[in-house]
Formats: sequence, C-alpha cells, structure tokens
Amino acid sequence: MLKDRIAVVTGAGNGIGAAIAESFVKENAAGVAIVDYDFEAACKEAEKLGAAAFPVKCDVSNGEEVEKASQQILERYGHVDILVNNAGITRDSMFHKMSFEKWDAVMKTNLYSVFYWCNALIGQMRAQEYGRIINMSSAAVRGNVGQCNYAAAKAAMIGFTTSLAKESGRKNITVNCVAPGSVNTSMYLAVPDEVMQASINACPMRRLGEPKEVADLVTFLASDKATFISGQWIVINGGK
Ligand code: CAA
Repeated sequence: MLKDRIAVVTGAGNGIGAAIAESFVKENAAGVAIVDYDFEAACKEAEKLGAAAFPVKCDVSNGEEVEKASQQILERYGHVDILVNNAGITRDSMFHKMSFEKWDAVMKTNLYSVFYWCNALIGQMRAQEYGRIINMSSAAVRGNVGQCNYAAAKAAMIGFTTSLAKESGRKNITVNCVAPGSVNTSMYLAVPDEVMQASINACPMRRLGEPKEVADLVTFLASDKATFISGQWIVINGGK
C-alpha cells in the first residue's frame, strides 16, 4: 500500500509510533525514519524492522533538533512523502495543582513539535505536490480529568490540521488527525487502576485498543486508498 514511499514517524521507539512504523514497513514503504528522543529505543525498533528503517535521535520539543533531524532524513532519502506527528507525553494533574512546567512541557512536546516538523517538511511536500500528514490527537479533547494541558494541546492540533488541510489540498497534500481513546501502551498503563477500569467499563467493547488498530487507520490515511480524505479527525475508541 505504501510502495516506494518515504515516511517519518515521531515517537516511533515504542507504543503506537512503533506499531505505525512496523505497519509502514510491512506495506513496503521504501524508507521509514524512526524518530525518538530515546535513541536506544529507536535503534532497537529500526533493527527489528530491517533495511527500510532508519533511527533518528530527536527531542521533538526542540526546534533546532527537529531542523537537524529533518535535514538528516532529507539527505538520506532526498524527500519525504508521509509525516506522522505521533510523539507525545502526559504530565497529568488536576488543574488546580498543575505547575506551569507541566503545562509547558506538554505544549512543547505535543503541539510545538507539530509546528516544527510540518514547518520543516511542508515546503518540499508542496514542491513535489504530494504529501500525507497525520497528527496524533486524542479522544481526551472531549475533556479528561487530570488532562487540561494534554487535552488543550491535542485539541489545538485539530484546528491546526483542518487549517493546514485547507491550505494544502491544491498541492495534493492531505492532513488528518487520528484521535485514539484508551490504548494498551505504557503511557496509558500508567494511569491509576480505577481510572483504567472505568475507561474499560465505559467502552462498548469492554477493552483497551491495541496499538496495531491505531496503526492500521494511520496506514490507510497515509496510503493512496485515502486520496480524498483531508481535514478530518477520526476518533478510534471502540465506540465510546
Ligand atoms: N471528576 C471530578 N473530580 C475528581 C475526579 C473526577 N472524575 N476524580 C477525582 N476527582 C477529585 C478527587 O475526588 C479529589 O478531590 P479532593 O481534592 O476534593 O479530595 C481530587 O480530584 C484529587 O484526587 P486525587 O487525590 O486522586 O488526585 P491526584 O492529584 O493524586 O491525581 C489525577 C489526579 C492526576 C487526575 C489522577 O487521578 C490521574 O492520573 N488520572 C488519570 C488521568 C488520565 O486519564 N490520563 C490518561 C493518560 S493516557 C493518555 O493521555 C492517552 C490518551 O490520548 C487518552
């Protein structure tokens, strides 16, 4: 489905990002940059995926690091077709106890990163008149206790996505958001047991999602099976 395509997946050292990178390689992408601030995790994942995968160390909250990483990827492959802004962190806290540091860290990693990566790659996508950008939002945009910072960043991502989609359509670039609910990753497994149980009970399918299920949707949006889908945010949460 992705034959000859070159992709960048941020936060691909583990969790949903790793599942996306695995799916892209399985669908015959020619190159997949496994971007993570944890270089060891990126290398392990790349080694698992073989020759198409390329580990890249980058803290996505830092504009200079993104600039360097994107140059490194463009030097290696010449161009990029698919960008998945997946890297993200949580710093959960009730808002009345939330420090500015927790707010700021989440904004920088989850939202500023989207600016940095899109800014670095949109020019060459426009020049080649082809691009697929998928931003990892969250079902938490509907509101989640302890996540004012995270939900704000993930909701802002939707406004960014719909606007960039409108600007980019004439250049054959689609821009979409995927918004997962509770997914079986180390990020989600860190929530208190009672929060997880309540989330599972509220889900019609009575379970967490699996990273592969999110990766399948992202792969579809990144492929030429989704040539007329743009400016959307698609919730994937088992019907909650
Ligand atoms: N609604 C309103 N108030 C609530 C509440 C709720 N659902 N749950 C708890 N509270 C209240 C408590 O009653 C308590 O009130 P008092 O201070 O008056 O006693 C107060 O909130 C604080 O409760 P805690 O002492 O338990 O609070 P805490 O500060 O230790 O922890 C928390 C609060 C950080 C929110 C913690 O419960 C938590 O981590 N929750 C999980 C948050 C979550 O869902 N994270 C998702 C992570 S995964 C992810 O983000 C991926 C994705 O895309 C979905």
